[in-house]
Amino acid sequence: MMSGEAESIEAKMEDLKVGEENQACEQGDGVDDDSKEDIVDPWNVATSSSKGIDYDKLILRFGSTKIDDALLERFEKITGHKPHHFLRRGIFFSQRDVHQILTRYEAKKPFFLYTGRGPSSTSMHVGHLIPFIFTKWLQDVFDVPLVIQLTDDEKFLWKDLKAEEAQKLGYENAKDIIACGFDVNKTFIFSDMNYIASCPEFYRNMLKVQKCVTYNQVKGIFGFGDSDCIGKISFPAIQASPSFSNSFPAIFGTKKDIPCLIPCAIDQDPYFRMTRDVAPRLGYPKPALLHSTFFPALQGAQTKMSASDPNSSIFLTDTPKQIKTKINKYAFSGGGASVEEHREKGGNCDVDIAYQYLTFFLEDDDRLAELREEYSSGRMLTGELKKELITILQKMVAEIQERRKTVTEDLLKEFMTPRKLNFKL
Ligand code: TYM
Repeated sequence: MMSGEAESIEAKMEDLKVGEENQACEQGDGVDDDSKEDIVDPWNVATSSSKGIDYDKLILRFGSTKIDDALLERFEKITGHKPHHFLRRGIFFSQRDVHQILTRYEAKKPFFLYTGRGPSSTSMHVGHLIPFIFTKWLQDVFDVPLVIQLTDDEKFLWKDLKAEEAQKLGYENAKDIIACGFDVNKTFIFSDMNYIASCPEFYRNMLKVQKCVTYNQVKGIFGFGDSDCIGKISFPAIQASPSFSNSFPAIFGTKKDIPCLIPCAIDQDPYFRMTRDVAPRLGYPKPALLHSTFFPALQGAQTKMSASDPNSSIFLTDTPKQIKTKINKYAFSGGGASVEEHREKGGNCDVDIAYQYLTFFLEDDDRLAELREEYSSGRMLTGELKKELITILQKMVAEIQERRKTVTEDLLKEFMTPRKLNFKL
């Protein structure tokens, strides 16, 4: 038996022992001081650089791995699919354990995809589409089950929203997500408020995670303070739990050894660093991750597109006219101050928001290279570049709006009903 004092010292040491997955982040890993300026967590993304976040430094700080050519070559060899342009262009730039997932795929062993959305606005914005477009592509390539968590509980806790409102926003957002084209036979979408109440297996996993993580640890990872409500402090266990296959008995039965691959922007990584620390202690596989960069705000790459600032965002409900006006009025230009200066010095694609958006949504590599050349040389003006972008965005948003009209309440219910999915175990 330990004395009371020894016991409490032991407990403190345990609290301070940040897990392996979090060490790089906590210690800074030898990164120079500039990196301190970039703020990246699930609630804030900001940098003072007009070129945006320094993602290489972020990889060092977070302790993840850069997606390199070797991984892309292996991906193509094993799946027979040319990597998505998000991968080819470094939009998905960082990963954890994706080689292990490819090895499983090669050996015909199962895995599943897990992603999510925190419903804080009636409509999602085009930045939110990035992980969902990519997840849909991964589902098509790998032909695996997908679970999508709607963290209505998270938004209730963090925002000035009634519980019922947050849940309703979740259902609205689920329609946007379905409109991205997911296969109903392979996809389960769930609202935390609903699912947790009906699934003891999920709740048990939440409890197991909660028991493994101390207050000191979540403070270290998420920056919670003494005046944060206890709901926030325990929430990370809720976002961790879908990483474990036995949280979904209707899909995976009692199997607890099926790993998942999580596509998300890198702001969500703190949740999964915590999850990866805890998983082996619970006898579960660690989730693998694919991290994307941020789709920038209209005003510039210093921050991400965010639903809480309507002028920074193009929403999936915007009309063609609104899209045109927002791009023309707000999209930060890397062009010269006058036509003469622009013709002489050329535009700066590294800070130009229209160009940055085109790297996300213009799939044709040759056309993108041509636009870069034309704009950088000054032959193409900002207005002309913006026009290219406006046409692409108007078409993409209109297509999603058309597909969304076909999402009936019955279809929504089908996606959101726990059930067997169509795949081989
Ligand atoms: P949320 O609703 O903030 O964002 C949903 C997804 O979109 C990504 N994202 C972006 N990607 C690129 N550019 C942007 N400007 C941008 N803004 C948001 C987010 O990284 C996320 O992938 N807590 C989560 C919900 C969640 C979740 C998950 C997300 C629950 N489980 C598992 C990813 C994976 C949230 O509030 O996401």
